[in-house]
This record gives sequence, C-alpha cells and structure tokens, in this order.
Amino acid sequence: MSPFLVTRTLPEDATEAALRADVLHGLTRTPKTLPPKWFYDAHGSELFDQITELDEYYPTRAEREILVARAGEIAAVTGARTLVELGSGSSEKTRYLLDALSELETYVPVDVSESALRLAGEALIAERPRLGVHALIADFTGGLALPGTPGPRLVAFLGGTIGNLLPAERATFLSSVRSLLSPGDALLLGTDLVKAESVLVPAYDDAAGVTAAFNKNVLTVVNRELGADFEPDAFEHVALWDSDNEWIEMRLRSLAEQTVKIPALDLAVDFAVGEELRTEVSAKFRKEGVGEELSAAGLEPVRWWTDRAGRFALSLSVAH
Ligand code: AVJ
Repeated sequence: MSPFLVTRTLPEDATEAALRADVLHGLTRTPKTLPPKWFYDAHGSELFDQITELDEYYPTRAEREILVARAGEIAAVTGARTLVELGSGSSEKTRYLLDALSELETYVPVDVSESALRLAGEALIAERPRLGVHALIADFTGGLALPGTPGPRLVAFLGGTIGNLLPAERATFLSSVRSLLSPGDALLLGTDLVKAESVLVPAYDDAAGVTAAFNKNVLTVVNRELGADFEPDAFEHVALWDSDNEWIEMRLRSLAEQTVKIPALDLAVDFAVGEELRTEVSAKFRKEGVGEELSAAGLEPVRWWTDRAGRFALSLSVAH
C-alpha cells in the first residue's frame, strides 16, 4: 500500500481572513465585485456538479471528449511519473489521465477544500493501491510548494478555470506554475474557446435556473461566514458576453434599493435599484492568445487539441 498523505499549506483560518478581505474590498468599490472562488462551499460545489450535467453547459463534456481521445498521447509525450492537479475538486476527469500514465508513481491533487481532497483521495487509493497520493490543501493562486516527488512532472489545470482569472492574474499564475517546473516537465491546460454568443450565454444562464442558484449562493456564503443579511431573492442573475474582452460575466442585479449589513466587517453596503455586483469573469480563448500567454510565462506550447465541435481546447506546453 502506498501512503495517502495530506499536507496543509493554508492556515486553518486563512479562508475566513481571505473572505473578509475580498468582501470588504469588493463591496466598497465601484462597480462592486466578489471573486468567484467563494461560490464553492459544499452547496455551491453540489450546484456546480449539477451545472456540468446541464444541456446548455458544454465545457465539461467537451473537455472529457478530448481527454478520452488524447490521454494516451499525453502520456507518451510527457512520460510523467508525477501528476499534479490544480483545483482537483472531485478528481472526476483525472481518471482518464491516471489510467493512461503508465509511468505514474504519485498523484498530487491540490485544492482549498480539505473535504473534497479526502473524499477523492480515499476513493483513488482504494482503487489503485500502488499509486502514492499526496494531497495538498493549498490556494493555487498563492505560491505553491510541491512535495519532492519524482520527475518528469505533469501539472494539469483543467475545466477552463484559468478563465476565472483576469489577464494580469493569469500572467502571474502561469509564471508561478512555470517556477514549479524543471526542464522536461509539462503543463496541461484546459481553456474554453470563443464561440457564438447564442451558445455562450445560455451556458451561463440555463433554463432550469441552476446557474442562477449557483450565482446567488455566494450571498448565502457571505451571510453564513460573516453574519451578513443578504436576501438572495432581492437580486437577479445576469449573464452577459463582453465581446471586447471576450469573456462571460456573471452579475447579481439588485431588484430594489436596499442596504445589506455585514456585522463581521462592521459594514453597511447600499445597493441602488438595478445596481450590479460582478461575481465572475469566465474568459474564452483563441489558440493564438493561449500560445502567447504560455510563451510569455516561459512555457513552450507543443500540442493543441480541441473537441470535434471545436468548443474547448486542451494544450500541452513544456518547460525548458
Ligand atoms: C469551473 C470555472 C470552469 O467558468 O465555466 C460555471 C464555473 N460558472 N457556470 C466556468 C461556472 C458558471 C466554471 N469553471
């Protein structure tokens, strides 16, 4: 039996301190914003899992199609002995890589959610007794320190989550990933692609209202963690395509003039009727732009694969 190790690089109270800082900063500026990472409490993670099964939400299925078709090639090109997965969550799509990587010795899932890591880790260990699993409780947008596992290493960042970072944040993030890699190591990156607004907007505003509930859930998180009195039904879900920036924005639009109290911050926040709070940016990419961002971070793009319908891409880049 290989060991199942869990290493915490986040202090127990880091999450609450970060939430307080983000809420204070985001709700006292104009326009108001909240970062998307606060969607994912247990209920929000459950809602996200439901989103991935909606007819309108194609990215998860498109990325899975590419992984199924290309896992063998990913294994052949990288020869990875360590797989690091950033934002691993339930590790659902990881199985295709684990099955294909014949040289793999150690899997390092990285997530802020200790419960998700333990659940996914225990299940994997039971199925694959010879795989070492060293889970890291860490925020991958901060600086990561990886355990000293054997190379070559493959770092996977799937799901298109890089699109939730703003361009300057992406540059910082990709450089920090590059700094974790040695020559011959690789990055596997999932990016959703620019496409018709008529396909993009419904993916973030589904008919069943699951994405609306997911969006409003961030208010429930702030209520629970900071004692706030947001009334989720006093806001409506908005999804729009920003064609200049080529990103989807999710917002919450205040349906009334209202004041929200946030006791933990000793703060009262006024909303005008129709005022919008930005809760997520989900950038969509083009091949050329992804290549430029990788190159700027010191990574050399070596493969680019899309699903048959051309909606989503996986790229493989290497460090020199
Ligand atoms: C998990 C970041 C890939 O941006 O598409 C889904 C999150 N937001 N529906 C995305 C999300 C609204 C999702 N990612």
